[in-house]
Order: sequence, then structure tokens, then C-alpha cells
Amino acid sequence: MNDILTELESRRADARLGGGQKRVDAQHARGKLTARERIELLLDDGSFEEFDMFVTHRCTDFGMEQQKPAGDGVVTGWGTINGRMVYVFSQDFTVLGGSVSATHASKICKIMDMAMDNGAPVIGINDSGGARIQEGVDSLAGYGEVFQRNIKASGVVPQISLIMGPCAGGAVYSPAMTDFIFMVKDSSYMFVTGPDVVKTVTNEQVTAEELGGATTHTRKSSVADAAFENDVEALAEARRLFDFLPLNNRQKPPVRPFFDDPARSETSLDTLVPSNPNTPYDMKELIEKLADEGDFYELQAEFAKNIITGFIRLEGQTVGVVANQPMVLAGVLDIDSARKAARFVRFCDCFDIPILTLIDVPGFLPGTTQEYGGVIKHGAKLLFAYGEATVPKVTVITRKAYGGAYVVMSSKHLRGDFNYAWPTAEIAVMGAKGATEIIHRADLGDAEKTAQHTKNYEDRFANPFVAAERGFIDEVIQPRSTRKRVARAFASLRTKNVQMPWKKHDNIPL
Ligand code: HXC
Repeated sequence: MNDILTELESRRADARLGGGQKRVDAQHARGKLTARERIELLLDDGSFEEFDMFVTHRCTDFGMEQQKPAGDGVVTGWGTINGRMVYVFSQDFTVLGGSVSATHASKICKIMDMAMDNGAPVIGINDSGGARIQEGVDSLAGYGEVFQRNIKASGVVPQISLIMGPCAGGAVYSPAMTDFIFMVKDSSYMFVTGPDVVKTVTNEQVTAEELGGATTHTRKSSVADAAFENDVEALAEARRLFDFLPLNNRQKPPVRPFFDDPARSETSLDTLVPSNPNTPYDMKELIEKLADEGDFYELQAEFAKNIITGFIRLEGQTVGVVANQPMVLAGVLDIDSARKAARFVRFCDCFDIPILTLIDVPGFLPGTTQEYGGVIKHGAKLLFAYGEATVPKVTVITRKAYGGAYVVMSSKHLRGDFNYAWPTAEIAVMGAKGATEIIHRADLGDAEKTAQHTKNYEDRFANPFVAAERGFIDEVIQPRSTRKRVARAFASLRTKNVQMPWKKHDNIPL
């Protein structure tokens, strides 16, 4: 018996060493943690239960039968984050560059299947040279199996990808189909084809970092939701994000104990909106003043900054926030901001997370760049996402809500449950100056008349009362009481149950 136990321990120790001390040292020298160290930091102490530690590949080509490392380059299993269950895979770059063989892929598939069966999220830590070159099509087939599970799990359990090393070629499409992607600055990259292929095909000279580093994907492409300084920070932030999310699409997000009075009055909000309608102010100030303990978890913070997306808690319950940001492009809607917000709204809706929308939007951005880029289709994504969302929807218009953007942003007409406005709200087809230039074009040469027309339009529409008279706004509220009003609104909607008619799936304008 003792011999068997000794063999077990020796085989375990061998598997835990991955690709050997030299490669572990090289991994550390690059500022990267090993696959197992990452799992240790991600999960609660001692909670990790590993599967398939002794699995080896079955390839016999190119001398591969001579090297059969236990675990085959990926550590898989389950554990807990603050006591809640999660399935994890973590690719081990020290073993054959974390490359994906048929067996490596089947280990990932096993935990994805278990996650769906048991209703728990999947967190994938990616650090891999891609398809195991020696295995050819077997490796590609393995990727295909993972992709199919990403799709099946989408909207069933939350999926989070942490990119902590190379992620190239078709391999990028597995993270791309997950709900959130975090990257690490200077040590992770994602691209469909690397710099050498780019040079050959397009003659462009670009570094891996420029082509697919964390900065590129958080600022330019919006492929990644956030970038962090190092592995430790990214893993700690993944734990924080996880705490906002439900385990699956049939459960509510966790309720955190809160120590912040839901009826807290914020007198400073009464003066948040400047008296000049063209002066910007920081919408994040409002979000933070509404949130329990001022805690706002922003996503896609570096992309399309004219719209803000992220999570807060009200009375301990997770709420998704979408807010126009008057500080950037006056909070206008455009292709990027519409895409960003639409994806976030859809995430919230599939996982039953209520949505708070804070509105100060002058409309859609005009111009050929936008039209040629398909702003019609991209804007429609946001419209569609809000209209199909059946989760509780509460909106607050702080200032401008003009034109199509008024309708799109969770208006009453798209089944907003509570539509509040501050007294400073202006709900109209467009701003008074633009309106005057169109409907009183004949008087444009006469400054006095034009000023009078503009004033008339302002008097008529630069307020929330016309919309309130029609019931499009449920109540005009004091800015200082917004936290209380919004928290009570969401509390009253906890039993909301609205279904869309049966359909196979909708046809959102992609
Ligand atoms: C097998 C691989 C491998 C791979 C790396 N290794 N990638 N083994 N298949 N795809 C091995 C190396 O042989 C080496 O083994 C160890 O991993 C570390 O690799 P290095 O090259 O020494 O590391 P580094 O200099 O850091 O470079 C990392 C790298 C590079 C940039 C990822 O290894 C690389 O370019 N690899 C190939 C990438 C690639 O073309 N993959 C296929 C992409 S297409 P030793 O024994 O020396 O430690 C794809 C299709 C997916 O993935 C399709 C899905 C549908």
C-alpha cells in the first residue's frame, strides 16, 4: 500500500512541475505566473479540486511518443470564489508551450460540460502557442469542440477569459465568444495572424504588442474588457467581477451585505448639471453617488468613453449601468458606443441583471464616417437590445434626451419600467438652436426673430414636463433623492416576470 501511495505522490509531484523548473523559471522571468499559481490566486484557499492530472496526449508523430507530460499542458478542475462554485482551466505554457492537443481540448470540454450541467461559470486562463503543431487536424478538431461548447454555454453560465500569454490564430475565437475578456499589459496578446504574416500579406510592419496587445484591444478593437498591470491584479479583478454575477441563467446574482442607507440623500447632485446646457459634467460622479458604498465596477473603460458600462449594487443587489458620458463627445451615440452598450445590455438580460440607464444624450453622431461605417445597423443593435430586454429597466434622464437617441435609451416606448427625469431634463426631437434653423429657416437672417424662435422652442421642450404630461416620464424627481427612488424602483421590480413570444431566436442586426 505504501508503495502505491508513494507512487501517487511522486506522479502528482511530477505533474505539478509542468514543463520542469527551467521553463517555470523562464515563465517567472517574463513576469508571468505558472498555470497552477494563477489558479491558487483566483480561487479560495484550498478550494481547488483538479481533474485529469494524469491525462497524456496520444500523438505518435514527430517523436511525440517520447514526451508525454502528465496533464498535457492544461490544468483543469473546479473550486470556489468567495464560496461560490466555478470551473476553471489554466493553460500551462511550460508544457509544450500550452499548445492545444486533442486531449488538452477534451480536458477543457469536460469541465465546460460539467459547468453547464451544474450551473456554474467557467473561467479560462489562456497562455498557449495555439494548435499543437505535431497533431495537425486532431488539434483543430479539439478547438472546434471547445468553440461549440462556448456557444452552447453562452447565456447559460457566465464565461470569463483571462488572456495571460499568447493567444493567436483561430484560438482567439474561443475567448471572443465568452462574456468578458481580461488581458495583462505587456505579456499577453491576441491576433488572428501574427506580425510576420501581416508583413508578408500587407507589407505592414507592426509589433505583437501594437497588433494585439492589451492596450490595442482595450482602446482600439474593444475585443478586451479590461487590461491590468500583471497576473496578480488581473486575477484579483476577475474575483471582483465574479462576485457581481449569478452562477447561471436560472439564479439571481448574489446579494452582498450593504452598509449604505438606500434612502441616502445626496444634495450635491442638485447642482451636478451645470446651468449652461453645453457645459459637460462627469456622469461617473452620479453613478458613484448612487452605488452602494460608491463601488462601481467599470467595463470597457478605455473604449468608446462617450458611454459608460459596468456594475454597481443597490441594496446589495447587482445592477448593470449604462450611462451617457457628457465629458466625451457630449455623450453622443455613435457606432462604437452603441455596440459597446448593446453587448452589455444583452449580457445583463441573459443573466437576469436589472439595468439602470442614465441619460444625457444629444443624439446620434452625424457624418460620412458614421454612415459608411453602418451607424444605422450598429445603432439598431442598442435599440434592439433594450427592446428585447425583459429584466427590470429603470432610467433617469438628467439632461438631454434628443431624437432617436431618446427612444433608444431604454425609453418608456421600449418598455422601460420606471422612467424618471430630473427637472433639468430636455426631451425633444433636437436642441432648440437646430430646431429653429430648420422650422424657421426663412427668419435666419433676422437675429432677433431667430432668438425668439429659439427661446419659444426651449420654453416648450427644454423641460421634462411635456413628456411627463403624456406619461412617457413616470415622475420628475429631485436629483438628491435619485438613489432612494431608483433603489425603491428596483426593489418593486424583483418579481417582474415578462416573456417575449416564443421564437427560435431573434435576428438582432449584427
Ligand atoms: C507545439 C509549441 C507550439 C505549438 C510553442 N510550442 N507553440 N509546440 N505546438 N503550437 C513549444 C515550442 O516548441 C517550445 O518547446 C515551447 O512551446 C515554448 O515555445 P517558444 O517558441 O520557445 O516560446 P516563445 O519564444 O515565448 O514563443 C511563443 C510563441 C511561439 C510566440 C507562441 O512558440 C510560436 O510562434 N508558436 C507557434 C504559434 C503558432 O503558429 N501556432 C499555431 C497557430 S494556428 P520547448 O520544448 O522548446 O520548450 C492555431 C489554429 C487554431 O492555433 C485553429 C482553431 C480553429
